[in-house]
Amino acid sequence: MTNADLQTAVIEAFKQQYRAAPSHIARAPGRVNVIGEHTDYNEGFVLPAAIEQAIYIAGRVRDDERVTIQSLDYHDSTTFTLDQLKDSSLPAWSGYLRGVLWVLAQECHDLRGMDLTVAGNVPLGAGFSSSAAVEVAMMEICSALLHLKLAQKDKALLGVQVEHKFIGIRSGVMDQMISACGEEDHALLLDCRSLETKLVPIPYGVSLLACDTSKRRELVNSEYGKRREQCEEAARLLGVKALRDATPEMLKANADRLPEVIRKRATHVVNEDVRTLAVVEALSKGDLATVGKLINEGHESLSKLFEISIRELDIMAEIAQHTDGVIGARMMGGGFGGAVIALVHDQAVEQFSAEVKGQYDAATGLESTIYVTKAGAGSSVEKVG
Ligand code: GLA
Repeated sequence: MTNADLQTAVIEAFKQQYRAAPSHIARAPGRVNVIGEHTDYNEGFVLPAAIEQAIYIAGRVRDDERVTIQSLDYHDSTTFTLDQLKDSSLPAWSGYLRGVLWVLAQECHDLRGMDLTVAGNVPLGAGFSSSAAVEVAMMEICSALLHLKLAQKDKALLGVQVEHKFIGIRSGVMDQMISACGEEDHALLLDCRSLETKLVPIPYGVSLLACDTSKRRELVNSEYGKRREQCEEAARLLGVKALRDATPEMLKANADRLPEVIRKRATHVVNEDVRTLAVVEALSKGDLATVGKLINEGHESLSKLFEISIRELDIMAEIAQHTDGVIGARMMGGGFGGAVIALVHDQAVEQFSAEVKGQYDAATGLESTIYVTKAGAGSSVEKVG
């Protein structure tokens, strides 16, 4: 479904459900990540791009304390009052949405009841950050309905608070920041310490493909937390605030002071920061050969040093890296499932997609999906009618 059709469907479903028109509709996109993986919570650099696929939320305020959320994707709806946000009997799919209300209440914003309808076309569990998109879309609709004056960065950072304080995952800032601050045809170089951003044009003639392995993330929450702890341990042993402050030379000099696993994790993060900045530099010079080499090295590092790949991601990356028209390919996101991002020359996209899908499906017996994405705009909210 196109975004325009989806937006119309959400508004129409709202009218049916609540017998009145919504006052606003919010949109927040999913993302791909060109490079810079597991560097965000180490206060380093990432280079994600928002995609066109997005979450939409239509809404209007009520005069009481009741919140009703209708989910078109889950074919379900739920009603609760503002003092029940943490009620564990409420459906799990509503967690990210309730989490936003809870974080806003913690931040002393006056809440009101509201009627909402939610739907999206961001593939779930495939590593496109659909949950960050839900959080940011909910921040957008709440900022309109509750008259909150929040900058895009604030909406993103409050979304991160939902992960940390409500969901219980210590994620970094990348997904929410790109969902709120993305720009059409650009990736965003984000300094995850200062939160400074720099727009990086996607070169003309280059497509961003996301090759979904169809393996859904397993183990990811506990493994994600473990990786974060190992990185913090590495920073402590190296005597730096975060791995962002460590250099490849520092790692070499301290190699025998770090337990092997910690050294491997740190080596990935430190080199990934270097790679990310080098990719930005190479993109600005139009040096796609260097971009591709660095992206491929990124996969190797995530697989061998950070150890968050799985067989299917390795197979997908290997096939993509050796198919005509490719610039570079690597697994993206938290790991243990999801998609490989491939930068591909425009004229080769069709053939590339068919070949990669054919070879991957034959090698694994699974059914992959190749998404041709386009760097799209960050989140927004508008009045309806
Ligand atoms: C997940 C997290 C992000 C980031 C990536 C890995 O998507 O939500 O904050 O850490 O994994 O780069």
